[in-house]
Amino acid sequence: MRIVYVNGHYVPENEASVSVFDRGFLFADAVYEVTSVLDGKLLDFKGHYERLKRSLNELDMPFSMTEEELLAAHRKLVAENNIDEGLVYLQVTRGAADRDFVYPDASTPNTVVMFTQSKSLTGKPIEELSMKVITVDDLRWQRCDIKTVQLLYPSIVKNMAKKQGADDGWLVRDGVITEGSSNNAYIVTEEGTIVTRDLSHSILAGITRASVLECARQLQMKVEERPFTVEEAKAAKEAFVSSATTFVYPVVQIDEAVIGTGKPGPVAAKLREIYIENSRATAI
Ligand code: PDD
Repeated sequence: MRIVYVNGHYVPENEASVSVFDRGFLFADAVYEVTSVLDGKLLDFKGHYERLKRSLNELDMPFSMTEEELLAAHRKLVAENNIDEGLVYLQVTRGAADRDFVYPDASTPNTVVMFTQSKSLTGKPIEELSMKVITVDDLRWQRCDIKTVQLLYPSIVKNMAKKQGADDGWLVRDGVITEGSSNNAYIVTEEGTIVTRDLSHSILAGITRASVLECARQLQMKVEERPFTVEEAKAAKEAFVSSATTFVYPVVQIDEAVIGTGKPGPVAAKLREIYIENSRATAI
């Protein structure tokens, strides 16, 4: 049984609980982060902490835990649960209060929940990794840069994909792809340029995305941060996604269109390799 963190206490998961009045439960008034673990160490912890602070700030949500305190809690959970490869999930809500749309008094304490999930992140060779995606209208709200727990639409999209024999959905707004339902989306053009949507309120600023683009620059690959159409994506030489749960992961089909050779391409393969290498070297 896992040990989880709830409001400052480390407890067995079957003893962990939060209030039914919690605003995370009632209003999705909560933000989250997912941090990957390799070799029992955390990847890009600072980036996740900084994005958490930004999400909290955009929602005017008070929060008092410092980076050091959160890091210590993450590390304790990784150690207590013997996580070698996997994920740490962190959620911060505006806390429990009588049901009212208006935010409660600032003195209402946050609810903070953290747990680990053991998961092989590097176990398979690239040849065995490939996903098919479908394109779906992006019906999410217009502040996708804030990492809130409003994940119903992404869940609907993943279920639509599953029903159609695919693995995920790429979301389309105004004819251009914003991102995947839980990852950032990329294509590689005929000329070998990596294209991914520029940062705005329309997408989440992926922590993995920032590291992957850094790897691309390190490898002297050309990168363009701009919108791309569904047609451009379908005609691309390669496509892939990035996230804390997938790292760099090849996409070999978009709707009915086979991408490139229908197998993971060399750009995705190289980026995945270097991303994992750099991450192992910098994990804390
Ligand atoms: N999802 N875009 C969306 C909509 C996401 O939900 C995520 C992450 C990303 C990639 O962000 P990062 O590289 O920081 O993981 C992009 C997490 C993994 C999840 O919901 O499980």
